[in-house]
Amino acid sequence: MAEAQREKITAPALRAMKGSERIAMVTAYDYPTARAVEAAGLDAILVGDSLGMIVLGYESTIPVTMDDMIHHTRAVMRGVETVHVVADLPFMSYHVSKAQAVENAGRLMKEGGADAVKLEGGKTMASRIEAIVRCGIPVMAHIGLTPQASAALGGFKVQGRSLDAARGVIDDALAVEAAGAYAVVVEAVPRQLARIITSRLSIPTIGIGAGVECDGQVLVNGDLLGSFDRFIPRFAKRYADLATTMRDAFATYAAEVRAGQFPEQEHGFAMSREVIAALEADDSQA
Ligand code: KIV
Repeated sequence: MAEAQREKITAPALRAMKGSERIAMVTAYDYPTARAVEAAGLDAILVGDSLGMIVLGYESTIPVTMDDMIHHTRAVMRGVETVHVVADLPFMSYHVSKAQAVENAGRLMKEGGADAVKLEGGKTMASRIEAIVRCGIPVMAHIGLTPQASAALGGFKVQGRSLDAARGVIDDALAVEAAGAYAVVVEAVPRQLARIITSRLSIPTIGIGAGVECDGQVLVNGDLLGSFDRFIPRFAKRYADLATTMRDAFATYAAEVRAGQFPEQEHGFAMSREVIAALEADDSQA
């Protein structure tokens, strides 16, 4: 029997997965990766501003621009049919005012073609979430460790370990839900805190470094695939070693080119004996 066609996963459909199916999400920034994620049947892609480190070679996410995000979101959208695609609002694209947040969220939808946008921050960003949602744009929130604020947080550190800090993260979670977010990424918090947040919210929690009791998980594809070899966060799991696979393939190719072993006949094109003979005759008369 033919496999049933999967429908496009919208923001309400993703939200409705809470309590019934765990959400599998990964970052992607380009067309071939988006096609692979679609073929593998994952639920959601985050075009994360981790783009800055994983693809563009920056030290952090801070330099990523709206134009970078739109360019890569468009590439991802060309590679998916059913997978839900969320695009990150980069640093300083929503912090200045509600109007700025709405305008840039609109650009990710209109110019990038995204299904939803994500922004970092809890209570302090609730007014931005509310304003964007009011325009009919679904917003995924992001609390706990928020990499765009890593300078203020003193680095990439686990959040919510003390009683006060844990209460702060819970307040953030409740605030983004009340503001209208349809899901929330919870990054680098103790798993017991993520469990409490997951049980208190009616929207799905998508964990990264937050334990198995979230409603779903997201990983950065460079960590998952092993294509980003500068460092690997403790919470990431490597499912492949693409950096080694790529390096070995490039080295074998270079060795074969230098040894005259590539290309072989099967990689090229031939012409008829008559044409060759005529060309050789031209050559000998020249
Ligand atoms: O940009 C990103 O990849 C993210 C994940 C860490 C959730 O925000």
